[in-house]
Amino acid sequence: MKNLTIIVLAAGKGTRMNSSVPKVFQTLGGIPLIEHALNSAKKLNPKEIFLILNKDISKENFKNEKLVHCFYQKKQLGTADAVKACLSELKKSKNKILVMYADVPFIDSRTLRNVINIKSPKEIKLLAFKKEEYNSYGKIILGTNGFVNEIIEQRELSTKDRYILCNSGVFCSNAKVFSQLLPKIKNNNKKKEFYLTDIFKIASQNDFYTKTVLGEEKEIMGINDKKELAQAEKILQESLRNKFLKKGVTMKDPDTVYLSADTKIGKDVTIYPHVFIGENVSISSGAMIYSFSHLENCKIGKNSSIGPYARLRPGADISDGAKVGNFVEVKNSTLGKGSKANHLTYIGDAVIGKNVNIGAGTITCNYDGKKKHKTIIEDDAFIGSNSSIIAPVKIGKKSYIGSGSAISKNVKDNSLAVERSTQMEIKNWSKKVKK
Ligand code: UD1
Ligand code: CA
Repeated sequence: MKNLTIIVLAAGKGTRMNSSVPKVFQTLGGIPLIEHALNSAKKLNPKEIFLILNKDISKENFKNEKLVHCFYQKKQLGTADAVKACLSELKKSKNKILVMYADVPFIDSRTLRNVINIKSPKEIKLLAFKKEEYNSYGKIILGTNGFVNEIIEQRELSTKDRYILCNSGVFCSNAKVFSQLLPKIKNNNKKKEFYLTDIFKIASQNDFYTKTVLGEEKEIMGINDKKELAQAEKILQESLRNKFLKKGVTMKDPDTVYLSADTKIGKDVTIYPHVFIGENVSISSGAMIYSFSHLENCKIGKNSSIGPYARLRPGADISDGAKVGNFVEVKNSTLGKGSKANHLTYIGDAVIGKNVNIGAGTITCNYDGKKKHKTIIEDDAFIGSNSSIIAPVKIGKKSYIGSGSAISKNVKDNSLAVERSTQMEIKNWSKKVKK
């Protein structure tokens, strides 16, 4: 859509979040709020996205976003002032302009399509929703003609006033509306801020008209504090679970499975209760994920078996049919097809081939206090229980490591390596010990 520019406001102080992390970087389903908003914006295929930031947010964060142009709002003087950061561009533009807030993460592209459907340069379209209970959203006041007369922020209303049509913050108009009307917005209100919402009253007095499009609160909710963030997380988790249940994933107790917005799960995967799936995890079909497993930034192959109590950390790549059992941690390592690490093991910075058996209590000692080193264990090797594999080291194909060994030298293919002292036995010891 070459004639569409989207403005995303992300420069607010986020005071209500009470956090040292900027509000728009608070995560929902493992993904920052701003990314949720940008994902919805990108679905409309706009010509460009003007992202308004404050000085605490580096534009480096968005360097891979081709459509995004960053603008800085110097002082946080309100939402109208934020739009002024890109006003010089708007003055040159003949595009339709869609305004979105970065703290509104669930908005659907179909809803946005209804909002950008404006028929005349005089028309403004505003996304609204109805809510009976008391809330902090701006309230929309309609005129007798059905068009918006004004929006009044909740804090500017007296407690007796009661309106139920709420402002989502999302609206679309011709670029000219901004160049003509934005400079007219004043800050004579309780917060001494320039409210973008004042543009609707000024518009109605200047020959423009604003129509409302109704949406659902669930989709429009704005996230201002940790409580709202938690409520949004709950909604997102439920919708992610439903999405995967529909796709043929079995969850024994869906309410106890935590997913991320970018999680990928194939058909016939079974997830037992109490599993955490963080960012960037893909699970291929037929895999079993048992209870209390914690997975992040990892790949799980077909028909593999994970947990219970497994921890897959970033870079864990578990091949088809492999097994990672209880109290096993895998980081930045590949476990080849059909290989098994069934009990109490740490595998870090390792490449493990096919059909390898890693015995209980095996540790890859990857860190010497300064650097991380690599372990290579080739196909069909058998690592006896309670072995320390001291990297850098390579263990050849079909070789064996005797239990309890501390292996620091390479082991050739087909060999047996044992590193432990000979067993000593003192006969009749108990008889000699004085009681
Ligand atoms: C705003 C609306 C309110 C609406 C609600 C919907 C105004 C004045 N009020 O209220 O009518 O019901 O959103 O969610 O617009 N921001 C800046 N610079 C600033 C201030 C804010 O870029 O100086 C950004 C914030 O980062 C945020 C967005 O604008 O993404 C909205 O600001 P916020 O303070 O959250 O407004 P609300 O009080 O939620
Ligand atoms: Ca908000």
